[in-house]
Amino acid sequence: VPLQAYNSFHILAKANALAHITTQADISTLLADPFWASEPKFVLGGGSNVILTGDVKPLVLKVEILGRRLVAETDKAVIVEAGAGESWHDFVAWTLAQGWPGLENMALIPGTVGAAPVQNIGAYGVELQDRFDSLDAIDLVTGQVFTLNAAQCAFGYRDSVFKHSSAANPDAGQQAIGLKDRALILRVRFALPKPWKPVLGYLDLEKKMAEHGVDQPTAQQLFDWVCEIRRAKLPDPAVIGNAGSFFKNPTVTPEQCADIIGRDPKVVFYPLADGSFKLAAGWLIDACGWRGKSVGKAGVYEKQALVLVNRGSVDGPDGATGGEVMTLAKAIQTSVYERFGIWLEPEPVVV
Ligand code: EPU
Repeated sequence: VPLQAYNSFHILAKANALAHITTQADISTLLADPFWASEPKFVLGGGSNVILTGDVKPLVLKVEILGRRLVAETDKAVIVEAGAGESWHDFVAWTLAQGWPGLENMALIPGTVGAAPVQNIGAYGVELQDRFDSLDAIDLVTGQVFTLNAAQCAFGYRDSVFKHSSAANPDAGQQAIGLKDRALILRVRFALPKPWKPVLGYLDLEKKMAEHGVDQPTAQQLFDWVCEIRRAKLPDPAVIGNAGSFFKNPTVTPEQCADIIGRDPKVVFYPLADGSFKLAAGWLIDACGWRGKSVGKAGVYEKQALVLVNRGSVDGPDGATGGEVMTLAKAIQTSVYERFGIWLEPEPVVV
């Protein structure tokens, strides 16, 4: 089964077998089948956060469960639920149209609702965990459906229990059973706080406010501005294959930060609440001269060095291979390490 259309980097990988999961019953039936029950499985949402380095041997479960509904409304929050296969951006737009703001800063993030908790997606000062209520998932080994709250998801920066295979999630500082390749997320519930308050403070958003002479933006304005900002510097995966930010922004100690400022005083960094510093990985990569460079058909996006792109067509045979992407990634990691002493970690799941 060709996977080029099912991963946003549009890498020409294949799967041995693929099952479209459109209802909870589909996955329950599949797990009840003795043949498929014992096969290794790989869960795929919108494919916007995976790098396929070769063909996928496990059975691919393509999650296409739809549905959006209001669960409850209290004085404190609106609780809304969406099927894991819903498009994330369409869901954000729908909540706003219903008069339930809160997700607007995360507009236009590619991928599905079900993939959002896996990465703990975030943008412009809001992360999924800030708006998360709970989710339902099915255990791919036992077939049991279970519910997780935020603490049980062990959210961290672009991290959750769904990205870890073993017993502990040290990044989140807690013990948790890793659920990588073990659980399929069925639906996710969000708590949108009342009264709504805009999340501002991000430089790009402040610039939009100044440009429009607005100091009390509406949720719809923020939504529109976030879409404009993202369209200006991030490639549309339908046109240019990519997986968003390819590396995480590294966190360093004050000493490491001072060392890097010593190497280049122009480095972009942000102080964090715990006293550590977050560095802009895009800046580090840019400073090493990678913007616009390529290895074969894998390239560094011209307008944002943190984004690697596929320079081939999205549906033709001429695109980047997983090998080229990983060669480019490795070369970037090595050069950033040699210049700044920091090893960048990939953000998408490398398969
Ligand atoms: N920069 C450069 N050169 C570049 C790219 C960036 O100098 O080529 C500098 C920018 O000038 C800016 C700083 O780096 O001062 C940060 O750049 P930007 O505001 O574009 O944000 P980012 O840190 O690169 C993060 C998220 C994005 C998210 C934006 C906005 C990560 C890994 N990435 O990017 O998330 O949209 O902030 O909140 O945390 C994603 O995860 O896929 C993603 C796109």
